[in-house]
Amino acid sequence: MNQIFKDSSSNVFSQSLNIKGVHLKNRIFLAPLAGVSDIPFRRICQEMGAGLTFVEMLSSTALSYKNKKTLQMAERHPDEEILGVQLTGNREDHFKDGLEVLNQQNFEVIDLNMGCPVKKVVQSGCGSALLLDLEKVEKFFNILKDTSPGKIVSTKFRLGYTRQQLIMEDVSLLAQNTGLDMITIHGRTRNERYDTPVDLHSISLAFKNLKELPHKPLTIANGDIFSFDDAMDAYKTTECDAVMVSRGALGNPWIFQEILQGEPIRPHIDEWIDVVSRHLSYQNDYYKDETLASILFRKHLVWYTTGFPGVKKFREKIGTLETQESILDYLKEISLTIPKETQRSYHVDQKSAVK
Ligand SMILES: Cc1cc2nc3c(=O)[nH]c(=O)nc-3n(C[C@H](O)[C@H](O)[C@H](O)COP(=O)(O)O)c2cc1C
Repeated sequence: MNQIFKDSSSNVFSQSLNIKGVHLKNRIFLAPLAGVSDIPFRRICQEMGAGLTFVEMLSSTALSYKNKKTLQMAERHPDEEILGVQLTGNREDHFKDGLEVLNQQNFEVIDLNMGCPVKKVVQSGCGSALLLDLEKVEKFFNILKDTSPGKIVSTKFRLGYTRQQLIMEDVSLLAQNTGLDMITIHGRTRNERYDTPVDLHSISLAFKNLKELPHKPLTIANGDIFSFDDAMDAYKTTECDAVMVSRGALGNPWIFQEILQGEPIRPHIDEWIDVVSRHLSYQNDYYKDETLASILFRKHLVWYTTGFPGVKKFREKIGTLETQESILDYLKEISLTIPKETQRSYHVDQKSAVK
């Protein structure tokens, strides 16, 4: 399978990118993921090969008021080589103030979210609601660019609000025209859920228009990337510069290596324990409070153990784990369910993990 990509030097995803003096080591990025992409998760994904990671979506209004929790979410660990941050908003003044707060911190990329479909966010005019007003989008792009000199400025958006109103081409051209450095398109509309397969063809229409233009922004394809084959499909269909992985990284930070190496990776159970334990240690370092760190780690445990034989029997126990030691014991216990002949961990993709 995929013989030509087995040699990582010839794998298109392992090629680096240089943009505004920033070196991106490869072309596989980790998406901003609300409630997931905190420092511990970003660190483990970066170590496993992600070329760029993002802080989850932050509210520009909350940042403009210097909300303590939001400022904490925008923290960066010294080991994070390159980091993006994502903002949402619907008020121009708050968006500008929020950007000014972020500009005092250390981020290589600042991204405007125009994809979030969550009702509360959309009702407040943020996230994918911005796609309903192209004039406003243009204003936001200009503020983003003018307020963030020297930074890589980008936007992540959906194909449109509904199927009847696909505007990915207009938004992409607007981004190029305003001088944004990077665009990411999630190939679904606001009204589509994960049971609608990603529409790579529509992403390709938007990217093709940019091909011959001067100062073409970097183009990133996003949606349904759970394997090397999915990444290749996105690359070939959309002719993107890079791909962004989202649900595919939940419980499976090996996906970055898999895409870089061009073949599926099912780590030996010892390596699996090693990586999950490292993620857990980062979790404890960051959250300090062991009980809180353990409780917040439970969702990762569910994802990490998806597909393990007899996992159902072990699921209930996850809800009782409150210490680092009990989680480490749990990892050993579940590892014993792996048949001796294989010693490979199990992983089923997370297509249905988040509806
Ligand atoms: C738990 C979760 C949180 C998310 N949070 C964000 C976010 O903060 N910002 C964003 O732009 N997209 C967010 N998304 C959307 C993803 O980044 C991505 O665009 C979407 O899941 C499609 O990719 P996939 O089909 O590979 O999962 C989130 C998705 C999930 C599952």
